[in-house]
Amino acid sequence: MPVQMNAMGRAGNCWGRRCVFLTLLLCINTAMAAQALDVLHWWTSLSERQAADTLARALGEDDDIVWRDAAIPGGAGLGAFKVLKSRVLSGHAPDVAQLIGPTLTDWGELGLLLELDDVAADENWDDALFPTIQSLIRVQGHTLAVPVGLHRINTLYYRPQLLAEQGLRPPRNWAEFERVAAQLQRAGITPLAQSSEPWQVATLFEALLLSETGVVHYKQLLQRRRPDDWFDPRVRRALERLRSLKRWMVQPVVQRSWEVVARSFARGDAAMWIMGDWARGELVSMGLDVDHEFACIAVPGTQGVHLYSVDTFAMLAGNYGKQREQEAMARRLAGIPLQLAYNRAKGSVPVRRDIDPGVLDSCGRDSWRTFGRGSAVQAPSIVHRMATDEAMKDAIIAQVYRYFIDDQVTAIEVQRRLATIVRALQNDTGNRRIPK
Ligand code: BGC
Repeated sequence: MPVQMNAMGRAGNCWGRRCVFLTLLLCINTAMAAQALDVLHWWTSLSERQAADTLARALGEDDDIVWRDAAIPGGAGLGAFKVLKSRVLSGHAPDVAQLIGPTLTDWGELGLLLELDDVAADENWDDALFPTIQSLIRVQGHTLAVPVGLHRINTLYYRPQLLAEQGLRPPRNWAEFERVAAQLQRAGITPLAQSSEPWQVATLFEALLLSETGVVHYKQLLQRRRPDDWFDPRVRRALERLRSLKRWMVQPVVQRSWEVVARSFARGDAAMWIMGDWARGELVSMGLDVDHEFACIAVPGTQGVHLYSVDTFAMLAGNYGKQREQEAMARRLAGIPLQLAYNRAKGSVPVRRDIDPGVLDSCGRDSWRTFGRGSAVQAPSIVHRMATDEAMKDAIIAQVYRYFIDDQVTAIEVQRRLATIVRALQNDTGNRRIPK
């Protein structure tokens, strides 16, 4: 906009043919000037920044679009989502926002989002994208977001050398995990890295829940929204496992951002860590080599299963003044070259089925191939906004956190509270679009 106003102002000071020429020149300049898109997201760690810069650079170089960064720090986007809502309500919506999961439905129905149907058709997203990802961004037949990366949450990282020095192998089930952890602890090595930041505790819990329940029951728990389901013994066992894992962590478990945990894990302060695979991006950005300095396997009991979260960008409709650039951005972000470059930096994997998995590292290949087996092995993340609306997610995080930090709180108490919350939110329409 400033370019246009400037052009008009200067054109106003001319006369005759010179004026026509000047105006024309300025119009051409204005038309050619790079347009900026205000992008709201929550990628502020080293690797997240590198990944966002990869996108920004490609848009600048290939589409002449300026990525105006509006990053809001805070893992899992807790702050970013609040800022986004208040910007929309105060009439200062960004042009593009990291809006993910079932929330897209509500925002789409309110008419806040630009439909990307033409881009999706031109780029053949129907065939190119994994079906689950396709259905995540489709609301009532319209495409409302561009997917950029697929994260796997049920990832256990380990330091091969620390294990090898003790003659240990990475644990494939919980019995092995206990043996490995006990021996590491005896050798003076912290077995498991963890922060007590609420979303990080809940991220660990959802992996444990999936490990106890399996995909079918995990999905039922979230889809049926029956209060009684939360009294299931499998939920109790997941809570109990969460508490028992505390003895393998540094006491007291302090609140640290996930980037700080990543740095400490990279220094060798702990031998294992359960976290979404954005952590892999972070470890690589710090110079660690996958398979040598660190490696990953599925959390015990979740082999062959994918606890997923998909990062997507929605375009805010506004007055449609930037539709051309927003569409160009969507097209570019889902294209193969940027999918490969971006996801390499981010630790996630491409959202497309038509890439060569041979170019991914071993963790990425396992994630991409497992997810590709279809919905029977896919479980939507609660904490990372794939499975419920914000209210339910926040309630689960709060209860699990309370249980984790206070050993006086019993599992049955948490189950009771969760059942009550489910009952209270039962008629809330926000929970209706949970992936099958
Ligand atoms: C997002 C990731 C992000 C992570 C840590 C997740 O919810 O999907 O893109 O890196 O949070 O902030």
